[in-house]
Amino acid sequence: MVVVMSPDATDEDVARVVEKVEGVGGEAFVSKGLERTIIGLVGDIDSFHHLNLRTLRGVADVHRISDPYKLVSRQHRPDRSTVWIGEPGRQVPIGPETLTFIAGPCAVESAQQTLEAAQMARSAGAAILRGGAFKPRTSPYAFQGLGVKGLEILADVRVATGLPIVTEVVDARDVPVVAEYADMLQIGTRNMANFGLLQAAGESGKPVLLKRGMTATIEEWLMAAEYIAQRGNLDVVLCERGIRTFEPATRNTLDISAVPVVQAASHLPVIVDPSHAAGRRDLVLPLSRAAIAVGADGVIVDVHPQPEVALCDGPQALEGADLRELAQAVRRLPALVGKEPA
Ligand code: E4P
Ligand code: PEP
Repeated sequence: MVVVMSPDATDEDVARVVEKVEGVGGEAFVSKGLERTIIGLVGDIDSFHHLNLRTLRGVADVHRISDPYKLVSRQHRPDRSTVWIGEPGRQVPIGPETLTFIAGPCAVESAQQTLEAAQMARSAGAAILRGGAFKPRTSPYAFQGLGVKGLEILADVRVATGLPIVTEVVDARDVPVVAEYADMLQIGTRNMANFGLLQAAGESGKPVLLKRGMTATIEEWLMAAEYIAQRGNLDVVLCERGIRTFEPATRNTLDISAVPVVQAASHLPVIVDPSHAAGRRDLVLPLSRAAIAVGADGVIVDVHPQPEVALCDGPQALEGADLRELAQAVRRLPALVGKEPA
């Protein structure tokens, strides 16, 4: 941490900062410049925070230099992690060695639709099935998902296809029931900063797919992951799904650079959701290619047997030739970046 004194700070002001820092067991290194004095602090950052140094006379600014996240950082674990999804003995990896393809319907609408979508996903090479039973909708009048009935459908489809399931939980009170059915809990963009939900997911005993908040910085996203990790769960997979920008051509703007940035900062795997980023079927293939090329550890996409009647996000759902083309890309491209399909 660095304290920048204002140009008119007196020696007494500087001494007061040093005294406060030393009072909580820290060290303060004073460096006097021609115009300003800066003070470098070494010690426990949390105790420095409690000093409220910014409020002291003569202090112009206080900068944090080290990362605020700990457990999810690469300082904590230098090697990148692999998170394993599903039942012991037939688990699917998400991590640095592989490209994990996850596909399925945006929403579980019926047993038939979910089974058909899962079969499409499996034929395309997906190793994990996605599907929302609890849907976070902008409008309270839009389809909200089938709830527990949807979880039961997903569990039946897991038996029928052998695919482990990732499904969203939108309310901390539902974490136990969703964890009972799911192989991995999803926390969506709208709930990335729902700290109670993050903590409950951290205590669920299940891996967590944590999507980036559409208005979150990378640091805020990693701090959200830290909430889960802090509850003893380091099985967290991060998902870049686009951020809100001024550009209306796509629903959100896929921040492809977030993938290598986060992989450098955190040991957690990072996957990409081009479907929810773009909101447009025609962009799912090119954005998936980009995600694989940039080194993402997986892609997650929407598929639907009849997108034109989908109850949620039909315009971004793949089927037919589009899905076959994506299947080819996820089979062939990982080798170019030293990965293999999971
Ligand atoms: C999808 O899974 C979300 O629920 C969806 O993107 C929400 O968007 P909307 O409710 O604005 O349609
Ligand atoms: C989803 O994957 O079903 C979803 C709602 O995505 P997001 O939270 O990224 O919008």
